[in-house]
Order: sequence, then C-alpha cells, then structure tokens
Amino acid sequence: MTTASQAPSLSLTGKKVVVVGGKTGIGLGIARVALAAGATVVVASRRITSLEARPDLAGFQQANLDMRDEAAVRAAFAAIGPFDHLVVTAAPDIGTWGGFMDADMSGVRSYVEGKFLGTWACARYAAPLLGKGGTMTFLSGGMAVRPKLGFTAVTSSFAAVEALSASLAVELAPTRVNTIRPGYVETDMWNFLPAEVRAGMSQQVAASFPARRAGQAEDIAHAALFLMTNPYVTGTVLDVTGGENLVNSIG
Ligand SMILES: NC(=O)c1ccc[n+]([C@@H]2O[C@H](COP(=O)([O-])OP(=O)(O)OC[C@H]3O[C@@H](n4cnc5c(N)ncnc54)[C@H](OP(=O)(O)O)[C@@H]3O)[C@@H](O)[C@H]2O)c1
Repeated sequence: MTTASQAPSLSLTGKKVVVVGGKTGIGLGIARVALAAGATVVVASRRITSLEARPDLAGFQQANLDMRDEAAVRAAFAAIGPFDHLVVTAAPDIGTWGGFMDADMSGVRSYVEGKFLGTWACARYAAPLLGKGGTMTFLSGGMAVRPKLGFTAVTSSFAAVEALSASLAVELAPTRVNTIRPGYVETDMWNFLPAEVRAGMSQQVAASFPARRAGQAEDIAHAALFLMTNPYVTGTVLDVTGGENLVNSIG
C-alpha cells in the first residue's frame, strides 16, 4: 500500500533505459525525459553518431544495431548487458512500406521485417537482461485502428505490435509490456514532405484536434515515463493523440 510518505515516483534514478530509435524524433524525446528523470540512457540505431555532428547526444551512451538483423540485435543487447527499461520507437523510413497491389511483396516484407519483427527481435534479446520491475514500451500509431487507403502494411504492422505487447505482458510477467499509440507528432519523420505541406498539416491539426495543437515528442515521452514508472500498468495500449481518435484524421 502506498502511504502519504510514499507518493508515486516518476524517478528513474539508478535505472538504465535503452531506447531503440532514440537519436531522433519521439525516441529522442523519450531518451531526454529518461535522462532528466535520473536514468542512464542508451540510444540505439543503425549508426553511431559523432558528437561533433550531434553535440546534443553527449549525455547518452550509443549502441549500433539494425533491428532487421537478428544477429546484430543479439550482439548489441549482449554488449549493453543488464538494464531496466526497453523502449522501441524505431521504424523503417516513411514511404517504404509498399502497397497491397504492388507487383511483388518486397515492400511489405521489408516494412514488416523492420517495424514488427524488429520490435520482436529487440524484445526477444532484451527480455533476459531486464531486472526486477523492468518494462518494455513499443510504439504503434492511430492507423492501428483507423486504416487509410494505401497503408495496409502500416496498419497491419501497428496492430501486430500491439498484439505482441499484450502477448508479452502475459509471457514475460511480471515484466510489464505496453504500447503507446501516438497521433500526429511533429518530428523529422515528416521531413520528406515540403515545408509548406507540413505547415498545412500542423494548421489542420490545430484547427481540428481537441488538444488544438500538433503533438510533440515530449508529449509521448511523458506517457513513456508514466509507463516505465507506474507499477500496475501492463498489457495496455495508451492513446496519446490530442484527441485525434475522436475527429476526422488528417491526410
Ligand atoms: N511522428 C508521428 O507523427 C508518428 C505518428 C504515429 C506513429 N508514429 C510511430 O512512432 C515511431 C517513431 O516515430 P518518429 O517520428 O520518432 O520517427 P523518426 O524520427 O523517423 O525516428 C525513427 C528512428 O528509427 C531509427 N531506425 C530506423 N530504421 C532502423 C533500423 N532498421 N534499426 C534501428 N533503428 C532504426 C532511425 O535512426 P537511424 O536512421 O540512425 O537508424 C530513427 O532514429 C514510429 O514507429 C512511427 O511509426 C509516429
């Protein structure tokens, strides 16, 4: 039982957090919040980034892994060693998912290999390393439940990631496993679009989403910190959308 002198804590002091995808976007937001909460934070992605190029990564340890490569994932987690909280935000580059009626299935295979099996691989090789009170947090997106024309691979992969987290909440208990389902978040992921298109999307979001603004990485990071520190939440999908799920989505 919690007493008045034992208020719930959001502290990660003494904990080690690994964020796969943690050098950009939502992952970087989560890595920063975990660092601010007192954790040692490892950011992992396909490249080691020099501090000359990215001085803002100075507070983090870096690990190199391509989550589509099982041997690389196994080796990276073996090198990281015991830790407390796994977060997987990494996803294949936007637009690489292929269409349902493509001439072959190379696009969808590559996307599923990255988003779904990549998350699976990270979970598989992290699981034996997690300490008491450990957690895993995955990322899906609103398309898990609101399909859009042309995004069948994304919807299917997001739904699979959510199913994986529920299943692992049972299989790996008492390790807690959850998924955050973000709405539109302004990150570098959208940089493939011209600036005026992105500005138009943000305006549309501000006009229509109940939160009246576009999501920021920090909004998702706040939710991730909650999932890492609340001892009784597991097997959950947490919508962090500014209310996008209640109104007509953008795009
Ligand atoms: N932003 C949004 O509006 C939004 C909305 C709904 C859902 N989401 C979901 O949220 C997640 C994160 O989005 P984001 O905006 O943070 O994206 P992001 O800024 O593009 O970040 C993706 C990260 O994944 C890493 N990565 C890509 N492929 C990898 C691989 N094979 N192995 C290891 N790392 C890899 C990249 O680093 P390297 O290039 O260094 O490998 C990058 O740091 C995604 O799963 C996305 O589907 C985002």
